[in-house]
Amino acid sequence: MKYIDIQNVEQTFKTRKGPFCALQGVNLTVAKGEFVALIGHSGCGKSTLLNLIAGLTLPTQGTLLCANREIAGPGPERAVVFQNHSLLPWLTCFENVYLGVERVFGTSRSAGVAAENKAQLRARTDAALALVGLTPAAQKRPGEISGGMKQRVGIARALAMEPKVLLMDEPFGALDALTRAKLQDELLQIVAKTQSTVVMVTHDVDEAVLLSDKIVMLTNGPSATIGEILSVDLARPRNRVELADSAQYQQYRKAVMDFLYTRQTHVEKAA
Ligand SMILES: Nc1ncnc2c1ncn2[C@@H]1O[C@H](COP(=O)(O)OP(=O)(O)OP(=O)(O)O)[C@@H](O)[C@H]1O
Ligand SMILES: [Mg+2]
Repeated sequence: MKYIDIQNVEQTFKTRKGPFCALQGVNLTVAKGEFVALIGHSGCGKSTLLNLIAGLTLPTQGTLLCANREIAGPGPERAVVFQNHSLLPWLTCFENVYLGVERVFGTSRSAGVAAENKAQLRARTDAALALVGLTPAAQKRPGEISGGMKQRVGIARALAMEPKVLLMDEPFGALDALTRAKLQDELLQIVAKTQSTVVMVTHDVDEAVLLSDKIVMLTNGPSATIGEILSVDLARPRNRVELADSAQYQQYRKAVMDFLYTRQTHVEKAA
């Protein structure tokens, strides 16, 4: 079943040097509950595609649907973890997460579902911060915490909203290897529990194979498009230590490396 349906999407930006076509002819479907990784060289258009699914930008051509409705703007059912975390600097970590929680659960979401009270909203916020190990930093402001911690607040904010679709732009890119592994494992558990649909941008081949059902590989821009889609049929739950010895895991890894480093060797362009 198609949950996200991207049909012949093109994104052209107006620049001082004239129009710049970032994406062209992008067709992709994502099923409900599917975990999709977007991978490709820097500047190919991964964030551009994620922003389109988020509804933060509209395509210059083509259509994007979510649950059979055209994506016409951002919505709380599609939460985003941004590449640059984008926290409000004047609010504490707690307040940054609370804002998202209040927006989703502080009003009646549908008939028969009452708005939650402040204690419930606070409990949701505390739980999300605890999940990413940030309880001690809850009262600090973004300027007072590290880059990896800021990224974790962004992840907590998105997860706390219990979105139907979780859109993540290199959420673990700024983290050290151990924290990254811990959060990847947490994410796998959360997604298994909530059955969320996830689209995640990553540069990391191992991360893509470990987490995804499908790896979408983008060609180099300009006019980047989907070069290949790899289905990752590894049983879940997945264990990173066991997978390290798995021949099947190594094959998937090799297929992505081959695409990135043999067939799409990066050409620095004057963008
Ligand atoms: N608002 C914009 N105006 C003009 N060009 C843009 C705009 N946003 C993105 N681009 C261009 O579109 C291309 C794709 O950018 P995008 O940010 O999607 O790449 P990316 O794959 O996310 O890269 P990275 O891995 O470095 O984050 C780049 O060449 C970029 O310069
Ligand atoms: Mg990007």
